[in-house]
Amino acid sequence: MKKRVGIEALAVAVPRRYVDIEDLARARGVDPAKFTAGLGAKEMAVNDPGEDSVSLAATAAARLIQQQGVDTSKLGMLVVGTETGVDHSKPIASHVHGLLKLPRAMRTFDSQHACYGGTAGLMAAVEWIASGAGAGRSALVVCTDIARYGLKTAGEPTQGGGAVALLVSETPDLLAVDVGLNGVSTADVYDFWRPVGRREALVDGHYSITCYLDAMAGAYRGWRERAMEQGLVRWDSKLPSEQLARILYHVPFCKMARKAHAQVRLCDLEDSSSGPATPEARDEAAKSQASYDAQVAKSLGLNARVGNVYTASLYLALAGQLHAEGAALAGQRIGLLSYGSGSCAEFFSGVVGEKAAERMARADLDTVLAKRERVSVEEYERLMNLPYDAPEAIAPEPGTFRLAEIHEFRRKYAGA
Ligand code: CAA
Repeated sequence: MKKRVGIEALAVAVPRRYVDIEDLARARGVDPAKFTAGLGAKEMAVNDPGEDSVSLAATAAARLIQQQGVDTSKLGMLVVGTETGVDHSKPIASHVHGLLKLPRAMRTFDSQHACYGGTAGLMAAVEWIASGAGAGRSALVVCTDIARYGLKTAGEPTQGGGAVALLVSETPDLLAVDVGLNGVSTADVYDFWRPVGRREALVDGHYSITCYLDAMAGAYRGWRERAMEQGLVRWDSKLPSEQLARILYHVPFCKMARKAHAQVRLCDLEDSSSGPATPEARDEAAKSQASYDAQVAKSLGLNARVGNVYTASLYLALAGQLHAEGAALAGQRIGLLSYGSGSCAEFFSGVVGEKAAERMARADLDTVLAKRERVSVEEYERLMNLPYDAPEAIAPEPGTFRLAEIHEFRRKYAGA
């Protein structure tokens, strides 16, 4: 029998402060409906320099180990997916490994390709286990990022930050990945980039949306071809994409998931021999509200309250989806679409585990979000203007890590 491999459990870490998106809109003289209805946002996580990509990653990983009772002696790989690196050489994974006192006999590395880096790490772990190379060991994959465009930019309402830690193993209680079905699409484009030495991302916003949709069409069609060969989906009265119980997308802002879902449907409608005859009718059918409500809407609860988390954003959608419907989805196949600017998209699928609801209850996501403090726009601006290398002296909350200081380019952490 083929080995079952996938995500056994997950944990989420978010900055301890957030700003209400309507407050931000009013402060910028923008109609709040543009940020709520137009972008789909409610709240936006705000980090301070003490909550850097390392401390968020270590907090999420420590939480995963503690909440799920992970036996760390069984871990053989730690991958951190990030585009908020802190050093050209020393990976965030080595910090996390040290802070969590993990076993020496582990492979540790960071994986980078914009928001796709986390999925690249997840697939490295899944395929390492599936191939037998893991020899029964599990892997820790941590996606961590701080989305930062700067004050008063078009990207400002699509900032955020946080980390999602994933335990990958042969006991995929959350999601058994359909190994080998993945569809991918790569293109050399400048849609969004973060030049070395800059804190803020550069982005060609509307072009980036076009690049995302273009790449995902290729990735989805690649997955669909393989899924059809395996008999997992077929052309019949339901579109192939409708045969997935849910589809989760990379969520730079929540409205993007709606656009992405319409694009997946358009791929099916264009390729079907019995779909609507005119491009106008196909566009209309692609934008089906009923399909969006049934297959996508429930995955966005956490993303709407945290904002963009780059590599972690797809896995925050997975957390939100299983938090909302873990029990109802047990045994059902879902699709997942990862997109990283630059660009690489990957569409993959998996079957939700019977123990998904039980595992998600242990992740205690309501408490993680409820513990946050709402700050004013003035306080958010003050935090944004703090230098990255001089964290405020704040004691870490129990169970969390904070950057304490950077001395002679060496980072020191406190907590947990
Ligand atoms: N009421 C309701 N809706 C309103 C409105 C109002 N008063 N005013 C505007 N809107 C709607 C618009 O119609 C638009 O909706 P549609 O896209 O459905 O037409 C939406 O609000 C946004 O309006 P604009 O396009 O005018 O907004 P903008 O030009 O100011 O910027 C943005 C939007 C390009 C997404 C910008 O926030 C940005 O650059 N964000 C960062 C880049 C990004 O997230 N790209 C996504 C793809 S790349 C990727 O996914 C990788 C990654 O993580 C970065």
